[in-house]
Amino acid sequence: MDKQKLIIFDTTMRDGEQSPGASMTKDEKLRIARALERMRVDVIEAGFPASSNGDFEAVKAVGKLITDSVVCGLCRANDKDIQRGIDALTGAKAWRIHVFIATSALHMEKKLRMTPEQVYEQAKLSVRFARNACPDVEFSPEDASRSDPDFLCRVVEAVIREGASTINIPDTVGYAVPEQFGEMIRRLRERVPNSDKAVWSVHCHNDLGMAVANSLAAVMIGGARQIECTVNGLGERAGNTSLEEVVMAVRTRGDFFNLETRLDTTQIVPASRLVSQITGFVVQPNKAVVGANAFAHASGIHQDGVLKARETYEIMTAEDVGWTTNKIVLGKLSGRTAFKQRLKEIGIELDNEDAYNKAFQRFKDLADKKTDIFDEDLLALVAQEAGMSTDEHWRLVHMNQASGMGERPHANIVVTEAGTERTAKSEGDGPVDATFKAIESLAKSGAELLLFSVNAVTQGTESQGEVTVRLSKGGRIVNGVGADTDIVVASAKAYINALNRLANKMERLNPQHQM
Ligand code: KIV
Ligand code: ZN
Repeated sequence: MDKQKLIIFDTTMRDGEQSPGASMTKDEKLRIARALERMRVDVIEAGFPASSNGDFEAVKAVGKLITDSVVCGLCRANDKDIQRGIDALTGAKAWRIHVFIATSALHMEKKLRMTPEQVYEQAKLSVRFARNACPDVEFSPEDASRSDPDFLCRVVEAVIREGASTINIPDTVGYAVPEQFGEMIRRLRERVPNSDKAVWSVHCHNDLGMAVANSLAAVMIGGARQIECTVNGLGERAGNTSLEEVVMAVRTRGDFFNLETRLDTTQIVPASRLVSQITGFVVQPNKAVVGANAFAHASGIHQDGVLKARETYEIMTAEDVGWTTNKIVLGKLSGRTAFKQRLKEIGIELDNEDAYNKAFQRFKDLADKKTDIFDEDLLALVAQEAGMSTDEHWRLVHMNQASGMGERPHANIVVTEAGTERTAKSEGDGPVDATFKAIESLAKSGAELLLFSVNAVTQGTESQGEVTVRLSKGGRIVNGVGADTDIVVASAKAYINALNRLANKMERLNPQHQM
């Protein structure tokens, strides 16, 4: 029997972006959009155009750039929001307007302060308005899994009549459990008279760790044919359905699901790394498919089995999902052409020759300190380059620090502030603490440090350390990343990157808070 098509709708740049500090600049969105298109996702939700001018411009730019995926913009159910979405995407090769309004009693009464009748009318009118300008309209009844099923059926029937061609059922707060959610979708499709006029989609959150299971149950039991998901399961609170897990489950268990996606799965790991490096959200080592340990066999029994026959302990191959880990790719003597070629092979395109020159210079600096340069090193290096291209108000010029047993750690730093060199020194509880205090004594940002995490980019003690620093100030949360073979230097770079992001006016408050 022929496999049916499962549509993969990626919302990394919209719902994923709502994670604390994951707000992306236009350039970062363009890089992620390219990676998603290369992976061949069907629909890319590029953002929420009405949430800020910055996001409007980002969605517009993604719409202009992408030709092989549908580009979508999220809009609240009002004409003003929808018009922003239309203005951002008109002219894109294939585009979609995604309209949403809450339908649960709790959300309607407490958040929207609207009666069910008002919500019903608003949903109809807004889909009609969107449909007048765009042939591809998706409708989401927010908090559907906690909505009254009779009301939900009425709303969904009405918006399909108005021309919505995708009905997306969100489990907004991650409340659903698989069998029940699958059954809910099945009943909705059965009860809504015009249900066959739309593609049914699901959008799950992972608060109880069941987003992937709920999405797959909706497909198997309920007949949904679109799953909304994010790379690395990125998303607010516990995140969204993880793209890589859904796609690999459907592919690996094709015998059970009898579905296919059009994705190039070898692009999964490069996309995962890119998203992690841009957002500063490190992938946990034991994360399915994209975690560093996902294909590492540590126990002797497993290693022995895999050497004799791979299938004894492996259900998919590392290569299937794009792992090329620990391949020595370049060294000190590699030239600019080899460098550029390797970037191309791992799916990285820089904007212009100047960006290649800067990245190549950093590569040479790194190769002076580290004999073997791996793909992971290149990705970290390019991510830093991209992070730095956003207004570099602060720049690290030089630093040193000293610590030892029985000694109070201290750090000296030289930075430039808007091009002017400044120096500072400080003591601290540790070398990183001393470094941050020295930087803060100049920056005086007053920001609160929410997170400090260090991750080895490759294996071995000569590996680069990649540091994420999350700062919060006045309701804004940003993540800064920095990589270096010296983890204190990486920490200083990450702190400075976060300060630059705080200073960058283009970055937005978490859009969800504006609802
Ligand atoms: O979780 C949710 O309900 C959403 C909708 C806007 C689709 O993200
Ligand atoms: Zn969501």
